[in-house]
Amino acid sequence: MEGRPSLLALAPAAATVVVMLSLSCSWCGGGASAARVIAAGGGAGRHPVVLIPGAGGNQLEARLTDEYRPCSLACRVWPPVRGRGGWFRLWFDPSVLLAPLTRCFAERMMLRYDAGADDFRNAPGVETRVSDFGSTSTLRYLDPNLKILTGYMNTLASTLEKAGYEEGRDLFGAPYDFRYGLAGPGHPSAVGTAYLQRLRLLVESARAANGGRPAILVAHSLGGLFALQLLARSPAPWRAANVARLVTLSAPWGGSVQEMLTFASGNTLGVPFVDASLIRDEQRTSESNLWLLPAPGVFGNTTLVVSRAHGDGGGNRSYSAKNMTQFLRDIGFEEGVEPYRARIRPLVEALPEPGVPVTCLVGTGVDTVESLVYGEGGFDEPPEEVVYGDGDGTVNLASLVGPVKAWADSPAQVVEVVELPKVSHSGILNDKSALEQIIRIIDSINLNATSYQTS
Ligand SMILES: *[C@@H]1O[C@H](CO)[C@@H](O)[C@H](O)[C@H]1NC(C)=O
Ligand SMILES: *[C@@H]1O[C@H](CO)[C@@H](O)[C@H](O)[C@H]1NC(C)=O
Ligand SMILES: *[C@@H]1O[C@H](CO)[C@@H](O)[C@H](O)[C@H]1NC(C)=O
Ligand SMILES: *[C@@H]1O[C@H](CO)[C@@H](O)[C@H](O)[C@H]1NC(C)=O
Repeated sequence: MEGRPSLLALAPAAATVVVMLSLSCSWCGGGASAARVIAAGGGAGRHPVVLIPGAGGNQLEARLTDEYRPCSLACRVWPPVRGRGGWFRLWFDPSVLLAPLTRCFAERMMLRYDAGADDFRNAPGVETRVSDFGSTSTLRYLDPNLKILTGYMNTLASTLEKAGYEEGRDLFGAPYDFRYGLAGPGHPSAVGTAYLQRLRLLVESARAANGGRPAILVAHSLGGLFALQLLARSPAPWRAANVARLVTLSAPWGGSVQEMLTFASGNTLGVPFVDASLIRDEQRTSESNLWLLPAPGVFGNTTLVVSRAHGDGGGNRSYSAKNMTQFLRDIGFEEGVEPYRARIRPLVEALPEPGVPVTCLVGTGVDTVESLVYGEGGFDEPPEEVVYGDGDGTVNLASLVGPVKAWADSPAQVVEVVELPKVSHSGILNDKSALEQIIRIIDSINLNATSYQTS
């Protein structure tokens, strides 16, 4: 799987689907060897584990109301079979790969920024929900009812089960609507903050059901950013009482350069028959995609994108992470400028410390987009040149470890970074050495568990 682009990029790239499917095949038989029976803490039991997936690992259901105005007849009738209350699978649904239906998918996935309310909303006539919150089932199976196609967190969950964890007792899942993000202080984020509150309650009840032992949060990719915000937005006594450790896998703390490619050109990751521009327009509307653009604090003045079409007086125009509003304007996404400037930039400018011990597992040594050169054709053409650097294939090394090194300077903050050579952004969920590390960390926390009272 090394070097494959992956799920961070807001999976709505249809291609991600293929990555997920192929991952599930290569997973057969994987992972088991990493399982050891986790120490039961001298009879006191285990610390509960809460799994927080990355963007594409979540599943969304939708239903359409009278307000829905489909762009085609196909979209009016698709999907022909719907569940109780009219709910059907929106993400992940393989029909996204069929060209006429890609359009239906895109118009239903799309968010819009409501300037009056200063918040993001679903498209008119589209209601969405995340089912099975608290359970790991939607993280483990592409179809939780059939349980045939395994989802991307299945190996990790199975490894924990082999080590003695049990679904619903001390193992939980916290899926979310990955299209939405969070915003800086003073800006509402109805969907994102409701998720944080749900997650907070899940962590508290997991702890209460497990002898008062605080939870271990295991978060992949975008899930790490949500987990960090949960911690930063909770008082220190809450953190100390409820969270034993944050374990992040491939967390894109400072965003990724690949995200600029997604915004400019769309990102079908090379899958045929998918209209990149259609996917691009949908991907642009996702608030979490704005969140994943390269952060100025991490990428500084480094030139990330050059455009020969936008040069003044025949020259080139260069964009660093500090030029993101200009970049959004130049790619023709004016609607994104204000939400980025007001909501996202203040959020990514100050990356708070987790305030609980943290272990960051990061893949390195996989070619990762580091800069892009666009030619005379501008941003509607694919880049003329793509320069690769170090990272996990999706997230740049600077973003994976830069902010973590800054936390390490703080005496109160316990930080551990585990580098996994040649492990890709999503491959980390399937990689034997990564799974062994996760078990090692959880094991050592559980060995300390005797000091908690059962009350
Ligand atoms: C980045 O660019 C700004 C403005 O051009 C400059 O003031 C600043 O010193 C530069 N920072 C670094 C680290 O080079
Ligand atoms: C613009 O950038 C391209 C690619 O980096 C380079 O080859 C070219 O010389 C530059 N042109 C100018 C006028 O800077
Ligand atoms: C990018 O930002 C730098 C420093 O903040 C500024 O000097 C430069 O003009 C900006 N470039 C564009 C294309 O906006
Ligand atoms: C276990 O407890 C010891 C002593 O209090 C502490 O130093 C160590 O960091 C703890 N280990 C973990 C994984 O929490």
